Amino acid sequence: MSQPATTRRLAVITGASSGIGEAFARAYAKRDTDLCLVARRLDRLEALALELGQQHGIMAFAVQADLSKPEATDLIVGALAKQGRSCDILINNAGYSLPQTFLATKGREQIDFVAVLVTSVVSLTHALLPAMVERGYGRIINVASMVAFSSGAAGHTLYPAAKSFVVKMTQSLSAEVADKGVILTAVCPGQTESEFAKANGTDQLIAKSGLYKQTAEDVVAIAIAANEAGKEVVVPGWPNKLAVAFMKILPDSWTAALIRPQAKKFSLPDPKA
Ligand SMILES: NC(=O)c1ccc[n+]([C@@H]2O[C@H](COP(=O)([O-])OP(=O)(O)OC[C@H]3O[C@@H](n4cnc5c(N)ncnc54)[C@H](OP(=O)(O)O)[C@@H]3O)[C@@H](O)[C@H]2O)c1
Repeated sequence: MSQPATTRRLAVITGASSGIGEAFARAYAKRDTDLCLVARRLDRLEALALELGQQHGIMAFAVQADLSKPEATDLIVGALAKQGRSCDILINNAGYSLPQTFLATKGREQIDFVAVLVTSVVSLTHALLPAMVERGYGRIINVASMVAFSSGAAGHTLYPAAKSFVVKMTQSLSAEVADKGVILTAVCPGQTESEFAKANGTDQLIAKSGLYKQTAEDVVAIAIAANEAGKEVVVPGWPNKLAVAFMKILPDSWTAALIRPQAKKFSLPDPKA
């Protein structure tokens, strides 16, 4: 059956089943944008697609995909083709963190982590970018973190490296395609209300920290505004901006000395041997 023609843009949002990804879905639905919602928890995605479709009169559909698996990109591309749609806006948002030290985790866990936070971002972007360039229109928001600018520390071992990768990838791609109508932005939030800490078991530690925290809705509003303004990198919230400014100015050894004791407070202790 042929699909009815629509003039609405379509956004592919990974990690749309909770937190920042769900907030992106709500924000784009309000902007009359169709949605392709990606994550593993299909029940949540379908409920959100139904709710936003009814509320805003947009077309929203769910794609169940585990982004640690190499076939995830083909699944998403196939789902778009089945709907007769292409991606105008890509939000690479899915992510999590492993709060233990490297050796306290299984090698497979670290490899899957890199697959979700790094490889799938490369793979999905590489698959969807050519059509954006061809049409002369594309918007890509990559969800990084303010820790992209921090020193590495014990626990959450590869998280800062993965988020630095996302920032640098965004800048390099922007240099390559900005003149072709594709605008890329890396958003680098600090603590944000979501299921992130619950998912990795550090919610009690975060709750005790009293750190400055933003809502997912605020982070998303800032990210979309920055993308529309053509900004390559945005750090939401002035306390986070200040912290990043210090991290950029200070010598690495000073940042490490400041960050490492703090990072311990948000890591889980290794199980006793
Ligand atoms: N919250 C913060 O303080 C904070 C700060 C800076 C940056 N960030 C970044 O913000 C992004 C969103 O996180 P959040 O805070 O919104 O956390 P969240 O509420 O836990 O959401 C994480 C999302 O990622 C999806 N996801 C995780 N593993 C996946 C996999 N293997 N395949 C497909 N989807 C997967 C989850 O969906 P399923 O479980 O249904 O698959 C969920 O939708 C992440 O990239 C995170 O690193 C968060």
